[in-house]
Amino acid sequence: MSEGTLIESQEERPAGGGRRTTVNAERKKSISILHGPNLNALGSRETGVYGTTTLEQINAALRELASSLHREIGIHHHSSEGELIDAIHTAAQRGSAIVINPGAYTHYSYALRDALAAVTVPKIEVHLSNIYARESFRRRSVIAPVVHGSISGFGAQSYLLALRAAAAMLDEIRD
Ligand code: DQA
Repeated sequence: MSEGTLIESQEERPAGGGRRTTVNAERKKSISILHGPNLNALGSRETGVYGTTTLEQINAALRELASSLHREIGIHHHSSEGELIDAIHTAAQRGSAIVINPGAYTHYSYALRDALAAVTVPKIEVHLSNIYARESFRRRSVIAPVVHGSISGFGAQSYLLALRAAAAMLDEIRD
């Protein structure tokens, strides 16, 4: 187990008394949700494409699901490429999985792609809309080749599916 993963030592006393055994409880690794540019406008932005669910509503659904999966999540919205890149490195340093909707950066940001390629934590790309069924410039993701998987086209559900996938991937990692 790597350093920093212990949160506590729980002492368990077998029923009926007897010798105490010490069990190390592992800190569950968390999941970092990164929302890219213009996603803060969800709810009013191009509702025919993105629906009327707001980012706050999506975040509330994510928090609820995370709690039922017994996973901690951190949710961040960044409009700029640089802040998203810093957030990727911060998440990776903590060993957190990354669920990212890079917004329009998906289609052209090699800097974001390089940041994701540089980290080895579970990483999942998310889109509300089905980018492969939209304008031709959106049909190419420069992010897809450097993440473990992409979920696109299920509206707010895309995020919840991605959160489940990230939690499942973390469950498989042994420290
Ligand atoms: C998006 C799709 C992108 O093409 C667009 O620029 C967005 C949102 C989506 O979630 O469907 O901002 O990432």
